Amino acid sequence: MEKEPNHKKVSVGLDMYFNHSVAEKFAELEQNEKNFRVAEIVDDVIMSEIKDMKNPIFSAELGGGAHPDRYDKLFEQLLSEPRGHMDWVDVAPYMLELAKKYIDNEKYKERLNVIKFVENGILEYLEKLPAEKLDLAIMKYTVDHIADLDRLFALMSQKLKTGGKLVASLGVLDPQLKSISTNARFLYNGQEFPEDTVKMLKDGDSFTVKFFNVSGDPKAGYLKGAETVKYYHSEEKLRELAKKYNLDISVGDWKEMLEKRGGIDQLILVLRKTV
Ligand SMILES: C[S@@+](CC[C@H](N)C(=O)[O-])C[C@H]1O[C@@H](n2cnc3c(N)ncnc32)[C@H](O)[C@@H]1O
Repeated sequence: MEKEPNHKKVSVGLDMYFNHSVAEKFAELEQNEKNFRVAEIVDDVIMSEIKDMKNPIFSAELGGGAHPDRYDKLFEQLLSEPRGHMDWVDVAPYMLELAKKYIDNEKYKERLNVIKFVENGILEYLEKLPAEKLDLAIMKYTVDHIADLDRLFALMSQKLKTGGKLVASLGVLDPQLKSISTNARFLYNGQEFPEDTVKMLKDGDSFTVKFFNVSGDPKAGYLKGAETVKYYHSEEKLRELAKKYNLDISVGDWKEMLEKRGGIDQLILVLRKTV
């Protein structure tokens, strides 16, 4: 596994992913229906975006976390000849250990033939990549971990091949920060606020996410130590940066993107390098 020594800088607000017992419980909490469904949606958007690409496909999961036991369709394509590749990038070493554990079984272990685990920050990994290396970058629940969104877009414009894509799921676009979601409570400037109120976020604002012990059950209390800092990025900002770096952009609900009628709501961002 590749390793980089710059964790301190990247890991601000990510302590929970560096704590073994918290990371393990968090990864287990992610074994819920909604999480699987979102991964399937991302997988479907990816397949639609790469349908004209030829094998082998070079891909990277940026902030991959514990679950390479997702993306069945993409892995099927990466495993078909000539075989593709996926860099599974995460700054937290234990998340990478968990990722290996979740595919250490008959059903998934073939994926080890195409995955390389890379312990590094997202921006730091991209900086090191040769220009025009990536056919596909994936960010699931991680765009809002990035404070310097301008740098992310600049790197995408350099490191995607012409024709390359970034497919990301987005948490929120609405500037109204809710107090509570299925999995977590949100804090504004480090403070809890009542369930029936919202806070207005501005671009680049940070907020804290505190995860519940049991998904969907706030009364079961918080998962000890499981809190993380995220950053708000508006749709206007995403569009402005796409324009600045000459990237084609789609942002919105996956159903509109794939022309589907039913299903859960999930915001997706696609960036395409067309020139
Ligand atoms: C919310 S989890 C999402 C994991 C995975 N993408 C998923 O959907 O299950 C965030 C993960 O991204 C990693 N992460 C967050 N910010 C990062 C950064 N700047 N560089 C590398 N990894 C990061 C964390 O260590 C953690 O494993």
